[in-house]
Amino acid sequence: MLTIATANSKFILSGEHFVVEGAPSVVLPASFTTQVSIGEQNEPGITAVCNINCSQSWLEQHRERHEALIAELVNRSAQMLGIDIHGMGLRCLVRSTMPPGQGAGSSSSLSQAIAEAMIRHFITDDVHPNYLRWFGTRLEKQWHGEVSGIDNAAIAYRRIMLYQRDQAPVFIPLSSPLFFVVGTTGPRSEIDPYSVMRNLKQNKPLQYLAYREAMTDNALQLAEALRHGDYLRVGALMNESEEIFEACGIVTRQMKVACETARSNGALGARMTGAGGGGFVIACVPIKHIESVQMSWSHLKSVTVLSFGLEAIR
Ligand code: MEV
Repeated sequence: MLTIATANSKFILSGEHFVVEGAPSVVLPASFTTQVSIGEQNEPGITAVCNINCSQSWLEQHRERHEALIAELVNRSAQMLGIDIHGMGLRCLVRSTMPPGQGAGSSSSLSQAIAEAMIRHFITDDVHPNYLRWFGTRLEKQWHGEVSGIDNAAIAYRRIMLYQRDQAPVFIPLSSPLFFVVGTTGPRSEIDPYSVMRNLKQNKPLQYLAYREAMTDNALQLAEALRHGDYLRVGALMNESEEIFEACGIVTRQMKVACETARSNGALGARMTGAGGGGFVIACVPIKHIESVQMSWSHLKSVTVLSFGLEAIR
C-alpha cells in the first residue's frame, strides 16, 4: 500500500524572529508543495528518495544530505507514533517544488507531509488539521530545536492568519482580491540571520526591544489593513518591516535591490520574507502591474503569483 500526503508552503508578511518570543506575526499560505509517499519495500530499513524540480530550486547539490534527513524524520515520526519499524522495509519518496532554506517553509512543509503520510499509513486516514499541526511542529522541533510554529500553522490550516505562539491563530478574511509576487534570490550564504538576531539581542538589547516593539505594531496594523482591504497600507507596512530588518542586518543586498525593483515596477510594497540573509522576497502588487514585476524579477528563481480573496468577487 502506498500513502501520499501533500503539504503546501508559506510566506510571512511581518514578525519573523520576534514571533519565536511570542510577538504577533502575519503569514500567508502558498502553493509550492512537498509531496511525500510512504510504502513498504522488501529490504529492511528506510530508503529515502528525493525528486526535485531543479529548474525551480538549488536543492540538487544537497540531495544526499536531504535524503539522509528524510530517512531520519521518517524514523523519528515512527518512534513518536509508537510504531515499531524494526526489521520493516519502508520507502519514502519526496517530490518538492519548493526551494529549501529560502523562506518558503520547506522544513515545516516536509515535517507536515511526513507526519501526515505516516499517520495515514499506520494509524488512520481521518486526521484533524489541529493534530497534524501539533504533530508536525513536534517533529520539526526535534530537527531544528526551537521554532515558533507559525510555518506549521500556515501549512496545516492553509489560511491567511495573525499568529501568536501558544494562541489559537486568528484567520483574516479578505473582502477584495489581493495579489503577491514572490521570487527567490538564492540560498542563504553571506549572512546567518539567526546569529545576527541573537547577537543583536545580546549586544544591543535596547535596540533589539525597540525593533521588536516596532515589528509588533507593524504586524497588528498589517492584520487590520488586510481585514479592511486597505492594500495601499499593506504595501506601506511591508516596506516598513523591510526597513526594520535592514536595520537589524539580515537583508542582503540582492534582496534589497529586488524589493526596490519591484516597487519601481508598480508594487505597493516589498520585503524579505522568512528568516532572511537570502532567499525569497515578496511584493504586494496591483493586478495591472503583476507582469512588469514578474519581468523585473526574471533573474530570480521560482517567481510565482499568489492570489487571495478571489472568492469575494464570485
Ligand atoms: C521562519 O520561517 C520564521 C522564523 O521566525 C523562525 C520561526 O518562526 O520559527 C525566522
